[in-house]
Amino acid sequence: MTTNTPKSIIVIFGATGDLANRKLYPSIYRLYRNGKITEDFAVVGVARRPLTNDQFRENVKTSISHFEEDDLDHDTFADHFHYHPFDVQDISHYQSLNNLLNHLDEKHHTEGNRIFYLAMAPNFFGTIATNLKEQGLTTTDGWSRLVIEKPFGHDFESAQELNNQIRHAFTEDQIYRIDHYLGKEMVQNIEVIRFANALFEPLWNNQHISNIQITSSEELGVEDRGGYYESSGALRDMFQNHMLQMLALLAMEPPIKLTPDEIRSEKVKVLRALKPINEEDVGEYFVRGQYDRGIVKGEEQISYREAKGVDPESNTETFVSGKLMIDNFRWAGVPFYIRTGKRMKQKSTEIVVQFKDLPMNLYYENGEQIHPNLLVIHIQPNEGIELHLNAKKGDYGTTSTPIMLNYNNNGQDKMNTPEAYEVLLYDCMRGDSTNFTHWNEVALSWKFVDVISRAWENNKAEDFPNYESGSNGPKHSDGLLAKDGFHWWDVSK
Ligand code: BG6
Repeated sequence: MTTNTPKSIIVIFGATGDLANRKLYPSIYRLYRNGKITEDFAVVGVARRPLTNDQFRENVKTSISHFEEDDLDHDTFADHFHYHPFDVQDISHYQSLNNLLNHLDEKHHTEGNRIFYLAMAPNFFGTIATNLKEQGLTTTDGWSRLVIEKPFGHDFESAQELNNQIRHAFTEDQIYRIDHYLGKEMVQNIEVIRFANALFEPLWNNQHISNIQITSSEELGVEDRGGYYESSGALRDMFQNHMLQMLALLAMEPPIKLTPDEIRSEKVKVLRALKPINEEDVGEYFVRGQYDRGIVKGEEQISYREAKGVDPESNTETFVSGKLMIDNFRWAGVPFYIRTGKRMKQKSTEIVVQFKDLPMNLYYENGEQIHPNLLVIHIQPNEGIELHLNAKKGDYGTTSTPIMLNYNNNGQDKMNTPEAYEVLLYDCMRGDSTNFTHWNEVALSWKFVDVISRAWENNKAEDFPNYESGSNGPKHSDGLLAKDGFHWWDVSK
Protein backbone atom coordinates (compact mmCIF):
# COMPACT_ATOMS: atom_id res chain seq x y z
CA MET A 1 0.00 0.00 0.00
CA THR A 2 1.35 3.46 -0.93
CA THR A 3 1.37 5.71 2.12
CA ASN A 4 2.83 8.98 0.77
CA THR A 5 0.62 11.47 -1.00
CA PRO A 6 -0.30 9.44 -4.05
CA LYS A 7 0.75 10.58 -7.51
CA SER A 8 -1.02 9.28 -10.55
CA ILE A 9 -2.80 9.94 -13.79
CA ILE A 10 -6.49 9.11 -13.70
CA VAL A 11 -7.92 8.15 -17.07
CA ILE A 12 -11.70 8.37 -17.03
CA PHE A 13 -13.60 6.50 -19.74
CA GLY A 14 -17.05 8.07 -19.96
CA ALA A 15 -15.68 11.52 -19.14
CA THR A 16 -18.73 13.36 -20.42
CA GLY A 17 -21.18 11.18 -18.49
CA ASP A 18 -23.30 11.82 -15.47
CA LEU A 19 -21.17 9.92 -12.96
CA ALA A 20 -17.99 11.73 -14.00
CA ASN A 21 -19.62 15.14 -13.76
CA ARG A 22 -21.70 14.62 -10.66
CA LYS A 23 -19.34 12.52 -8.55
CA LEU A 24 -15.84 12.05 -9.91
CA TYR A 25 -14.74 15.60 -10.70
CA PRO A 26 -16.07 17.02 -7.42
CA SER A 27 -14.37 14.16 -5.54
CA ILE A 28 -11.03 14.81 -7.22
CA TYR A 29 -11.45 18.47 -6.39
CA ARG A 30 -12.09 17.70 -2.72
CA LEU A 31 -8.99 15.50 -2.59
CA TYR A 32 -7.00 18.38 -4.07
CA ARG A 33 -8.53 20.95 -1.76
CA ASN A 34 -7.92 18.77 1.29
CA GLY A 35 -4.29 18.20 0.35
CA LYS A 36 -4.78 14.47 -0.23
CA ILE A 37 -3.28 14.87 -3.67
CA THR A 38 -0.70 17.46 -4.60
CA GLU A 39 -0.01 19.20 -7.90
CA ASP A 40 1.44 15.88 -9.11
CA PHE A 41 -1.66 14.54 -10.78
CA ALA A 42 -3.42 14.64 -14.12
CA VAL A 43 -6.83 13.54 -15.29
CA VAL A 44 -7.43 12.44 -18.85
CA GLY A 45 -11.05 12.43 -19.93
CA VAL A 46 -11.87 9.94 -22.62
CA ALA A 47 -15.18 9.77 -24.50
CA ARG A 48 -16.62 9.67 -28.01
CA ARG A 49 -17.65 13.30 -28.21
CA PRO A 50 -15.13 15.63 -29.92
CA LEU A 51 -14.28 18.19 -27.23
CA THR A 52 -11.25 20.45 -26.94
CA ASN A 53 -9.25 20.62 -23.73
CA ASP A 54 -10.77 24.02 -23.05
CA GLN A 55 -14.34 22.79 -23.45
CA PHE A 56 -13.61 19.84 -21.21
CA ARG A 57 -12.10 22.09 -18.56
CA GLU A 58 -15.19 24.30 -18.67
CA ASN A 59 -17.33 21.20 -17.96
CA VAL A 60 -15.08 20.28 -15.07
CA LYS A 61 -15.32 23.79 -13.64
CA THR A 62 -19.11 23.68 -13.90
CA SER A 63 -19.16 20.42 -11.96
CA ILE A 64 -17.20 22.02 -9.11
CA SER A 65 -18.88 25.42 -9.24
CA HIS A 66 -20.67 24.77 -5.93
CA PHE A 67 -17.28 24.99 -4.20
CA GLU A 68 -17.03 28.66 -5.15
CA GLU A 69 -16.52 29.85 -1.58
CA ASP A 70 -13.06 28.25 -1.56
CA ASP A 71 -10.19 30.55 -2.26
CA LEU A 72 -8.60 27.91 -4.51
CA ASP A 73 -8.18 28.89 -8.12
CA HIS A 74 -10.46 26.61 -10.15
CA ASP A 75 -8.50 27.34 -13.34
CA THR A 76 -5.30 25.97 -11.82
CA PHE A 77 -7.18 22.85 -10.78
CA ALA A 78 -8.79 22.45 -14.21
CA ASP A 79 -5.40 22.77 -15.93
CA HIS A 80 -4.66 19.26 -14.71
CA PHE A 81 -7.48 17.97 -16.93
CA HIS A 82 -6.96 16.87 -20.54
CA TYR A 83 -9.38 15.48 -23.06
CA HIS A 84 -8.86 12.71 -25.59
CA PRO A 85 -11.69 11.91 -28.06
CA PHE A 86 -11.84 8.16 -28.26
CA ASP A 87 -13.31 5.21 -30.09
CA VAL A 88 -12.84 2.19 -27.82
CA GLN A 89 -12.55 -0.13 -30.81
CA ASP A 90 -9.90 1.84 -32.66
CA ILE A 91 -6.41 0.59 -31.81
CA SER A 92 -4.74 3.79 -33.00
CA HIS A 93 -6.62 5.72 -30.31
CA TYR A 94 -4.99 3.62 -27.58
CA GLN A 95 -1.59 4.41 -29.07
CA SER A 96 -2.23 8.15 -29.14
CA LEU A 97 -3.64 7.96 -25.60
CA ASN A 98 -0.45 6.24 -24.51
CA ASN A 99 1.65 9.02 -26.03
CA LEU A 100 -0.39 11.59 -24.15
CA LEU A 101 -0.02 9.66 -20.87
CA ASN A 102 3.75 9.39 -21.32
CA HIS A 103 3.94 13.12 -21.90
CA LEU A 104 1.78 13.91 -18.84
CA ASP A 105 3.81 11.52 -16.74
CA GLU A 106 6.85 13.69 -17.28
CA LYS A 107 5.01 16.93 -16.88
CA HIS A 108 3.27 16.01 -13.63
CA HIS A 109 5.88 13.63 -12.16
CA THR A 110 3.34 10.83 -11.83
CA GLU A 111 5.97 8.10 -12.07
CA GLY A 112 4.08 5.85 -14.48
CA ASN A 113 1.17 5.33 -12.06
CA ARG A 114 -2.13 4.99 -13.89
CA ILE A 115 -5.73 4.51 -12.88
CA PHE A 116 -8.12 3.51 -15.64
CA TYR A 117 -11.62 4.31 -14.45
CA LEU A 118 -14.44 2.80 -16.50
CA ALA A 119 -17.38 5.10 -15.78
CA MET A 120 -19.54 3.88 -18.63
CA ALA A 121 -21.88 1.10 -19.79
CA PRO A 122 -20.19 -2.28 -19.34
CA ASN A 123 -20.50 -3.54 -22.96
CA PHE A 124 -16.93 -2.56 -23.78
CA PHE A 125 -15.15 -3.29 -20.50
CA GLY A 126 -13.51 -6.41 -21.91
CA THR A 127 -12.41 -4.70 -25.14
CA ILE A 128 -10.96 -1.73 -23.29
CA ALA A 129 -9.08 -3.83 -20.74
CA THR A 130 -7.58 -6.05 -23.44
CA ASN A 131 -6.52 -3.12 -25.62
CA LEU A 132 -5.02 -1.23 -22.71
CA LYS A 133 -2.75 -4.16 -22.08
CA GLU A 134 -2.00 -5.09 -25.67
CA GLN A 135 -1.17 -1.54 -26.66
CA GLY A 136 1.25 -1.19 -23.74
CA LEU A 137 -0.68 1.34 -21.64
CA THR A 138 -0.32 -0.81 -18.55
CA THR A 139 3.42 -1.40 -19.03
CA THR A 140 5.10 1.45 -17.20
CA ASP A 141 7.62 1.90 -14.39
CA GLY A 142 4.75 2.48 -11.97
CA TRP A 143 1.48 0.69 -11.19
CA SER A 144 -1.73 0.35 -13.23
CA ARG A 145 -5.16 -0.14 -11.70
CA LEU A 146 -8.57 -0.70 -13.23
CA VAL A 147 -11.65 0.76 -11.54
CA ILE A 148 -14.98 -0.68 -12.58
CA GLU A 149 -18.45 0.61 -11.85
CA LYS A 150 -21.47 -1.59 -11.38
CA PRO A 151 -23.33 -3.40 -12.78
CA PHE A 152 -20.72 -6.14 -12.72
CA GLY A 153 -22.68 -8.56 -14.91
CA HIS A 154 -26.35 -9.37 -14.95
CA ASP A 155 -26.13 -12.77 -13.30
CA PHE A 156 -23.36 -15.15 -12.27
CA GLU A 157 -22.63 -16.33 -15.79
CA SER A 158 -22.34 -12.89 -17.36
CA ALA A 159 -20.31 -11.63 -14.39
CA GLN A 160 -17.92 -14.54 -14.81
CA GLU A 161 -17.56 -13.83 -18.51
CA LEU A 162 -16.83 -10.18 -17.81
CA ASN A 163 -14.37 -11.12 -15.13
CA ASN A 164 -12.54 -13.52 -17.43
CA GLN A 165 -12.23 -10.77 -20.01
CA ILE A 166 -10.72 -8.22 -17.68
CA ARG A 167 -8.55 -10.80 -15.94
CA HIS A 168 -6.74 -11.39 -19.27
CA ALA A 169 -5.32 -7.92 -18.86
CA PHE A 170 -5.37 -7.15 -15.11
CA THR A 171 -4.67 -9.30 -12.06
CA GLU A 172 -7.26 -9.45 -9.25
CA ASP A 173 -5.01 -7.14 -7.20
CA GLN A 174 -5.18 -4.50 -9.91
CA ILE A 175 -9.00 -4.55 -10.18
CA TYR A 176 -11.04 -2.20 -8.02
CA ARG A 177 -14.77 -3.02 -8.27
CA ILE A 178 -16.76 -0.12 -6.92
CA ASP A 179 -19.64 -0.54 -4.53
CA HIS A 180 -20.19 3.04 -3.50
CA TYR A 181 -21.91 1.97 -0.27
CA LEU A 182 -18.52 0.78 0.95
CA GLY A 183 -17.29 4.35 0.70
CA LYS A 184 -19.98 5.67 3.01
CA GLU A 185 -18.74 6.91 6.36
CA MET A 186 -21.25 4.95 8.44
CA VAL A 187 -20.92 1.75 6.43
CA GLN A 188 -17.19 1.87 7.19
CA ASN A 189 -18.17 2.51 10.78
CA ILE A 190 -19.88 -0.89 11.09
CA GLU A 191 -16.53 -2.58 11.59
CA VAL A 192 -15.35 0.01 14.09
CA ILE A 193 -18.56 -0.14 16.12
CA ARG A 194 -18.30 -3.91 16.23
CA PHE A 195 -14.61 -4.44 16.73
CA ALA A 196 -13.55 -1.42 18.76
CA ASN A 197 -16.16 -1.74 21.52
CA ALA A 198 -15.98 -4.35 24.27
CA LEU A 199 -19.70 -3.78 24.75
CA PHE A 200 -20.99 -5.28 21.51
CA GLU A 201 -18.78 -8.10 20.36
CA PRO A 202 -19.62 -10.49 23.23
CA LEU A 203 -23.33 -10.03 22.46
CA TRP A 204 -22.98 -10.18 18.68
CA ASN A 205 -24.38 -13.67 18.11
CA ASN A 206 -27.45 -15.88 18.16
CA GLN A 207 -27.55 -16.08 21.92
CA HIS A 208 -28.25 -12.39 22.33
CA ILE A 209 -29.52 -11.03 19.02
CA SER A 210 -33.03 -11.90 17.88
CA ASN A 211 -32.90 -10.38 14.38
CA ILE A 212 -31.14 -7.77 12.27
CA GLN A 213 -32.92 -5.44 9.86
CA ILE A 214 -31.26 -3.55 7.01
CA THR A 215 -33.37 -1.00 5.16
CA SER A 216 -32.47 1.28 2.29
CA SER A 217 -35.41 3.26 0.97
CA GLU A 218 -35.50 5.97 -1.66
CA GLU A 219 -37.97 8.69 -2.46
CA LEU A 220 -36.84 8.88 -6.05
CA GLY A 221 -38.41 6.67 -8.67
CA VAL A 222 -36.65 5.22 -11.66
CA GLU A 223 -36.37 8.75 -13.20
CA ASP A 224 -34.91 8.57 -16.72
CA ARG A 225 -33.15 5.23 -16.20
CA GLY A 226 -36.15 3.12 -17.25
CA GLY A 227 -34.19 1.38 -19.99
CA TYR A 228 -31.48 0.14 -17.65
CA TYR A 229 -33.79 -0.52 -14.73
CA GLU A 230 -36.21 -2.70 -16.72
CA SER A 231 -33.49 -5.34 -17.10
CA SER A 232 -32.20 -4.86 -13.58
CA GLY A 233 -34.90 -4.26 -10.96
CA ALA A 234 -34.26 -3.66 -7.28
CA LEU A 235 -32.81 -7.13 -6.78
CA ARG A 236 -29.89 -6.58 -9.16
CA ASP A 237 -29.63 -2.83 -8.72
CA MET A 238 -29.42 -2.66 -4.92
CA PHE A 239 -29.78 -6.04 -3.25
CA GLN A 240 -27.06 -8.06 -4.99
CA ASN A 241 -24.44 -5.46 -4.18
CA HIS A 242 -25.08 -2.74 -1.58
CA MET A 243 -27.45 -4.68 0.66
CA LEU A 244 -25.44 -7.91 0.70
CA GLN A 245 -22.26 -5.94 1.36
CA MET A 246 -23.80 -4.39 4.47
CA LEU A 247 -24.99 -7.80 5.58
CA ALA A 248 -21.48 -9.22 5.17
CA LEU A 249 -19.96 -6.44 7.28
CA LEU A 250 -22.54 -6.99 10.01
CA ALA A 251 -22.14 -10.74 10.12
CA MET A 252 -18.44 -11.36 9.48
CA GLU A 253 -16.00 -12.69 12.06
CA PRO A 254 -13.35 -10.29 13.38
CA PRO A 255 -10.48 -10.33 10.86
CA ILE A 256 -7.09 -11.27 12.28
CA LYS A 257 -5.68 -8.04 10.83
CA LEU A 258 -7.17 -5.00 9.17
CA THR A 259 -5.71 -5.84 5.77
CA PRO A 260 -7.80 -5.96 2.59
CA ASP A 261 -7.22 -9.71 2.16
CA GLU A 262 -8.18 -10.59 5.72
CA ILE A 263 -11.30 -8.44 5.76
CA ARG A 264 -12.50 -9.55 2.37
CA SER A 265 -11.93 -13.19 3.16
CA GLU A 266 -14.13 -12.87 6.28
CA LYS A 267 -16.87 -11.27 4.18
CA VAL A 268 -16.60 -14.07 1.65
CA LYS A 269 -17.18 -16.61 4.42
CA VAL A 270 -20.47 -14.91 5.32
CA LEU A 271 -21.66 -15.03 1.73
CA ARG A 272 -20.64 -18.68 1.53
CA ALA A 273 -22.68 -19.40 4.65
CA LEU A 274 -25.90 -17.85 3.31
CA LYS A 275 -28.54 -20.54 3.50
CA PRO A 276 -29.41 -21.38 -0.10
CA ILE A 277 -33.04 -21.07 -1.16
CA ASN A 278 -34.77 -23.32 -3.67
CA GLU A 279 -36.56 -21.65 -6.54
CA GLU A 280 -39.91 -23.02 -5.34
CA ASP A 281 -39.38 -21.57 -1.83
CA VAL A 282 -38.54 -18.04 -2.93
CA GLY A 283 -42.08 -16.87 -2.09
CA GLU A 284 -41.52 -17.95 1.52
CA TYR A 285 -38.44 -15.81 1.96
CA PHE A 286 -38.73 -12.92 -0.49
CA VAL A 287 -41.33 -10.31 -1.35
CA ARG A 288 -41.26 -8.18 -4.48
CA GLY A 289 -43.08 -4.95 -5.14
CA GLN A 290 -43.62 -2.35 -7.81
CA TYR A 291 -44.71 1.19 -7.12
CA ASP A 292 -48.05 2.61 -8.19
CA ARG A 293 -49.02 6.26 -8.37
CA GLY A 294 -49.04 8.11 -5.09
CA ILE A 295 -47.79 11.11 -3.20
CA VAL A 296 -44.22 11.61 -2.02
CA LYS A 297 -43.50 14.67 0.10
CA GLY A 298 -46.74 16.32 -1.05
CA GLU A 299 -46.13 15.74 -4.75
CA GLU A 300 -48.11 13.42 -6.97
CA GLN A 301 -46.07 10.75 -8.68
CA ILE A 302 -46.68 8.53 -11.66
CA SER A 303 -46.47 4.76 -11.39
CA TYR A 304 -43.38 2.80 -12.44
CA ARG A 305 -45.24 1.43 -15.46
CA GLU A 306 -45.86 4.97 -16.65
CA ALA A 307 -42.19 5.98 -16.50
CA LYS A 308 -40.16 6.64 -19.65
CA GLY A 309 -38.62 3.49 -21.14
CA VAL A 310 -40.73 1.15 -19.01
CA ASP A 311 -43.04 -1.53 -20.40
CA PRO A 312 -46.67 -0.62 -19.46
CA GLU A 313 -47.06 -4.23 -18.26
CA SER A 314 -43.65 -4.49 -16.70
CA ASN A 315 -42.90 -7.36 -14.33
CA THR A 316 -39.82 -5.57 -12.94
CA GLU A 317 -39.63 -5.11 -9.16
CA THR A 318 -38.84 -1.71 -7.67
CA PHE A 319 -38.95 -3.11 -4.15
CA VAL A 320 -37.53 -6.23 -2.60
CA SER A 321 -37.52 -7.52 0.92
CA GLY A 322 -36.15 -10.78 2.11
CA LYS A 323 -35.32 -12.97 5.05
CA LEU A 324 -31.83 -14.42 4.95
CA MET A 325 -30.35 -17.00 7.25
CA ILE A 326 -26.66 -17.53 7.80
CA ASP A 327 -25.73 -21.11 8.46
CA ASN A 328 -22.81 -20.81 10.80
CA PHE A 329 -22.13 -21.14 14.51
CA ARG A 330 -22.55 -17.47 15.28
CA TRP A 331 -25.76 -16.81 13.39
CA ALA A 332 -27.75 -20.05 13.13
CA GLY A 333 -31.38 -19.17 13.85
CA VAL A 334 -31.06 -15.37 13.55
CA PRO A 335 -33.02 -13.88 10.64
CA PHE A 336 -31.50 -10.98 8.71
CA TYR A 337 -34.32 -9.00 7.14
CA ILE A 338 -33.40 -6.79 4.23
CA ARG A 339 -35.56 -4.35 2.29
CA THR A 340 -34.95 -1.77 -0.37
CA GLY A 341 -37.24 0.10 -2.68
CA LYS A 342 -37.85 3.16 -4.79
CA ARG A 343 -40.57 5.78 -4.32
CA MET A 344 -40.98 5.03 -0.67
CA LYS A 345 -41.92 7.32 2.18
CA GLN A 346 -38.45 8.70 2.66
CA LYS A 347 -34.82 8.48 1.70
CA SER A 348 -33.03 6.60 4.42
CA THR A 349 -30.62 3.76 5.01
CA GLU A 350 -30.36 2.20 8.42
CA ILE A 351 -29.56 -0.94 10.32
CA VAL A 352 -31.43 -2.14 13.39
CA VAL A 353 -29.93 -4.82 15.60
CA GLN A 354 -32.66 -6.15 17.89
CA PHE A 355 -31.46 -7.90 21.04
CA LYS A 356 -33.32 -10.80 22.61
CA ASP A 357 -35.79 -10.22 25.40
CA LEU A 358 -34.65 -10.88 28.95
CA PRO A 359 -35.66 -14.27 30.33
CA MET A 360 -38.07 -12.61 32.75
CA ASN A 361 -39.60 -9.15 32.69
CA LEU A 362 -39.94 -7.50 36.08
CA TYR A 363 -40.95 -4.16 34.66
CA TYR A 364 -44.05 -3.36 32.74
CA GLU A 365 -44.93 -0.14 31.09
CA ASN A 366 -48.68 0.41 31.05
CA GLY A 367 -49.11 -3.32 31.19
CA GLU A 368 -46.98 -3.74 28.06
CA GLN A 369 -43.87 -5.81 27.65
CA ILE A 370 -40.68 -3.82 28.00
CA HIS A 371 -39.12 -2.47 24.88
CA PRO A 372 -36.35 -4.64 23.40
CA ASN A 373 -32.87 -3.17 23.32
CA LEU A 374 -31.97 -1.94 19.87
CA LEU A 375 -28.74 -0.77 18.35
CA VAL A 376 -29.53 1.48 15.41
CA ILE A 377 -26.90 2.50 12.89
CA HIS A 378 -28.05 5.42 10.76
CA ILE A 379 -26.17 5.31 7.48
CA GLN A 380 -27.90 8.17 5.62
CA PRO A 381 -29.05 10.89 5.33
CA ASN A 382 -28.54 11.11 9.07
CA GLU A 383 -25.31 9.58 10.28
CA GLY A 384 -25.11 8.24 13.77
CA ILE A 385 -25.67 5.49 16.30
CA GLU A 386 -28.48 5.03 18.78
CA LEU A 387 -28.84 2.63 21.63
CA HIS A 388 -32.40 2.01 22.79
CA LEU A 389 -32.45 1.03 26.46
CA ASN A 390 -34.97 0.97 29.29
CA ALA A 391 -34.70 3.06 32.44
CA LYS A 392 -36.82 4.04 35.41
CA LYS A 393 -39.40 6.74 35.02
CA GLY A 394 -39.32 9.62 37.46
CA ASP A 395 -42.10 8.28 39.70
CA TYR A 396 -42.55 5.93 42.66
CA GLY A 397 -43.59 2.91 40.67
CA THR A 398 -41.58 0.12 39.14
CA THR A 399 -42.31 1.01 35.54
CA SER A 400 -39.65 1.22 32.91
CA THR A 401 -39.56 3.54 30.01
CA PRO A 402 -37.58 3.44 26.77
CA ILE A 403 -34.67 5.88 26.63
CA MET A 404 -32.14 6.48 23.95
CA LEU A 405 -28.40 7.10 23.91
CA ASN A 406 -27.61 8.95 20.82
CA TYR A 407 -24.51 9.84 18.81
CA ASN A 408 -25.15 12.04 15.86
CA ASN A 409 -22.49 12.57 13.26
CA ASN A 410 -24.38 15.36 11.51
CA GLY A 411 -22.79 18.17 13.40
CA GLN A 412 -21.26 21.30 12.03
CA ASP A 413 -18.37 19.47 10.50
CA LYS A 414 -20.71 17.52 8.21
CA MET A 415 -19.42 19.58 5.31
CA ASN A 416 -16.06 17.95 5.87
CA THR A 417 -17.32 14.38 5.90
CA PRO A 418 -15.74 12.82 2.85
CA GLU A 419 -18.03 11.76 0.05
CA ALA A 420 -18.13 8.06 -0.82
CA TYR A 421 -16.36 8.53 -4.17
CA GLU A 422 -13.70 10.72 -2.67
CA VAL A 423 -12.78 8.02 -0.15
CA LEU A 424 -12.81 5.30 -2.76
CA LEU A 425 -10.69 7.20 -5.26
CA TYR A 426 -8.17 7.98 -2.57
CA ASP A 427 -8.10 4.34 -1.45
CA CYS A 428 -7.50 3.24 -5.01
CA MET A 429 -4.64 5.71 -5.42
CA ARG A 430 -3.06 4.35 -2.25
CA GLY A 431 -3.59 0.76 -3.34
CA ASP A 432 -6.00 -0.08 -0.53
CA SER A 433 -8.68 -2.41 -1.89
CA THR A 434 -10.49 -3.06 1.41
CA ASN A 435 -13.57 -1.13 0.37
CA PHE A 436 -13.85 -2.65 -3.07
CA THR A 437 -15.49 -5.95 -3.84
CA HIS A 438 -13.36 -8.98 -4.56
CA TRP A 439 -14.41 -11.30 -7.37
CA ASN A 440 -15.29 -14.03 -4.85
CA GLU A 441 -17.82 -11.72 -3.19
CA VAL A 442 -19.35 -10.78 -6.53
CA ALA A 443 -19.58 -14.41 -7.61
CA LEU A 444 -21.23 -15.61 -4.40
CA SER A 445 -23.74 -12.76 -4.32
CA TRP A 446 -24.81 -13.46 -7.88
CA LYS A 447 -25.19 -17.15 -7.17
CA PHE A 448 -27.51 -16.36 -4.27
CA VAL A 449 -29.50 -13.78 -6.21
CA ASP A 450 -29.82 -15.79 -9.44
CA VAL A 451 -32.22 -18.25 -7.81
CA ILE A 452 -34.53 -15.43 -6.81
CA SER A 453 -34.44 -13.69 -10.17
CA ARG A 454 -35.10 -16.98 -11.96
CA ALA A 455 -38.14 -17.63 -9.77
CA TRP A 456 -39.47 -14.13 -10.44
CA GLU A 457 -38.80 -14.22 -14.16
CA ASN A 458 -40.65 -17.52 -14.45
CA ASN A 459 -43.66 -16.23 -12.51
CA LYS A 460 -45.25 -12.97 -13.44
CA ALA A 461 -46.28 -10.91 -10.43
CA GLU A 462 -50.06 -10.84 -10.71
CA ASP A 463 -50.50 -8.07 -8.16
CA PHE A 464 -48.14 -5.45 -9.67
CA PRO A 465 -48.26 -2.53 -9.00
CA ASN A 466 -48.69 -3.44 -5.35
CA TYR A 467 -47.53 -0.44 -3.31
CA GLU A 468 -48.38 3.19 -3.43
CA SER A 469 -45.67 5.74 -4.04
CA GLY A 470 -44.86 7.32 -0.69
CA SER A 471 -45.60 4.18 1.34
CA ASN A 472 -43.39 1.65 3.10
CA GLY A 473 -43.70 -0.93 0.35
CA PRO A 474 -46.14 -3.82 -0.16
CA LYS A 475 -48.09 -5.18 2.81
CA HIS A 476 -46.67 -8.68 2.26
CA SER A 477 -43.33 -7.34 3.34
CA ASP A 478 -44.69 -6.91 6.88
CA GLY A 479 -45.95 -10.49 6.78
CA LEU A 480 -42.40 -11.73 6.22
CA LEU A 481 -41.49 -10.61 9.76
CA ALA A 482 -44.89 -11.13 11.35
CA LYS A 483 -44.58 -14.88 10.65
CA ASP A 484 -41.58 -14.87 12.99
CA GLY A 485 -43.22 -12.62 15.59
CA PHE A 486 -41.26 -9.49 14.56
CA HIS A 487 -42.02 -6.22 12.81
CA TRP A 488 -40.01 -3.64 10.90
CA TRP A 489 -38.73 -0.92 13.17
CA ASP A 490 -39.42 2.52 11.81
CA VAL A 491 -36.39 4.32 13.19
CA SER A 492 -35.71 6.87 10.47
CA LYS A 493 -35.88 10.49 11.47
C1 BG6 B 1 -27.18 2.89 -7.17
C2 BG6 B 1 -28.40 2.41 -7.87
O1 BG6 B 1 -26.21 1.86 -7.11
O2 BG6 B 1 -27.51 3.29 -5.83
C3 BG6 B 1 -29.49 3.48 -7.88
O3 BG6 B 1 -28.10 2.06 -9.20
C4 BG6 B 1 -29.74 3.96 -6.47
O4 BG6 B 1 -30.69 2.99 -8.45
C5 BG6 B 1 -28.45 4.34 -5.77
O5 BG6 B 1 -30.59 5.09 -6.55
C6 BG6 B 1 -28.67 4.66 -4.31
O6 BG6 B 1 -27.49 5.18 -3.78
P1 BG6 B 1 -27.52 6.16 -2.52
O7 BG6 B 1 -26.09 6.42 -2.22
O8 BG6 B 1 -28.28 7.38 -2.95
O9 BG6 B 1 -28.25 5.41 -1.45
